[in-house]
Amino acid sequence: MIVLGIETSCDETSAAVVTDGRVRSNIISSQLIHGKYGGVVPELASRAHIRLIVPVVEDALSKAGVRKHEISAVAVTQGPGLAGALIVGLSFAKALAYGLRIPLIGVNHLEGHLYSNFLTEQPAFPFVSLIVSGGHSILVHVEAPFSHRVLGETRDDAAGEAFDKVGKMLGLGYPGGPLVDKLAAEGNPAAIPFPRSYLEEGTYDFSFSGIKTSVLYYLRSKGLTDTVSKEIIDRQHLADICASFQEAVVDVLVAKAISAALNTGVRDLTIAGGVSANSLLRKKMKEETDRHGIRLYYPPIEYCMDNGAMIAYAGWLRLKQGMSSPFTLKPVPNLPLEELA
Ligand code: KG4
Ligand code: ZN
Repeated sequence: MIVLGIETSCDETSAAVVTDGRVRSNIISSQLIHGKYGGVVPELASRAHIRLIVPVVEDALSKAGVRKHEISAVAVTQGPGLAGALIVGLSFAKALAYGLRIPLIGVNHLEGHLYSNFLTEQPAFPFVSLIVSGGHSILVHVEAPFSHRVLGETRDDAAGEAFDKVGKMLGLGYPGGPLVDKLAAEGNPAAIPFPRSYLEEGTYDFSFSGIKTSVLYYLRSKGLTDTVSKEIIDRQHLADICASFQEAVVDVLVAKAISAALNTGVRDLTIAGGVSANSLLRKKMKEETDRHGIRLYYPPIEYCMDNGAMIAYAGWLRLKQGMSSPFTLKPVPNLPLEELA
């Protein structure tokens, strides 16, 4: 079965071909236009998707050596995501599937992230997954394919959002996550005691808006403006702020994921989403899972960020079960993970 996967939920236009669960191509075009605005501008994202969708899909098919009429189904992100951005991918996918008379499969973006580790490895069910991205921070217990329970999620900012906002305050650019990660490698994580927000006893929920505010207050206390330019702050000081902030976020993510794995009795733990590319998160999670005899999985970088391959894979799982979507499928910007497309 050859599935074409299309992902346009935010600022990546991506298409991929997956044959019987194996990736044949995965083209990701990241929209650089948002950088100068310090965040994704929804209307610009939709327009860029319109411009990019055809060349990106053609590229994915040609890299895979697959012709249109050989595709078995078209899988596409239905939500969550930006409404206008989702509409572009959905409209394209519907037209293509209708024209080729093949099934259309709506995929939940979070379900895509959930199965992104399966593109290269085979975690054993049941497992716990920590999905951390620019839009989400969520802990899920996955009993079997299509059977999962959300254990906890963020009550305010997503982990990636906190990285991006702190990156912006520090004048590093957008997206801040990878830039903070890189600078943190030169800094002292014990330099500034930023707070760890574990919330009340026993909850798997997260909160990252407090730490972001602490960074802001710290900068003010040092007489630094809200958006610090790299030129006016000493590089070592900047690296120390990055390292201290990053460690505070990672400590909470690791503690909650490990306790979820131990309390549910799973042997496998997966991390996914853009923040799963973070070097300290990978390192600390590996140390803790090793200590507890839990197997850890994280995707290669190209499958951490938004990509068509994970959508195609989740679509293929559905296709195998005989599931498909009606051509009246609508975008759902706030589609929860529990809800099947
Ligand atoms: O999964 P993704 O591509 O898009 C969403 O679904 O949101 O994740 C993007 C997020 C951004 O917030 C970005 O700053 C963050 O992932 N990110 C990182 C790293 N690489 C990407 N955060 C921390 N460390 C990184 N190395
Ligand atoms: Zn995502």
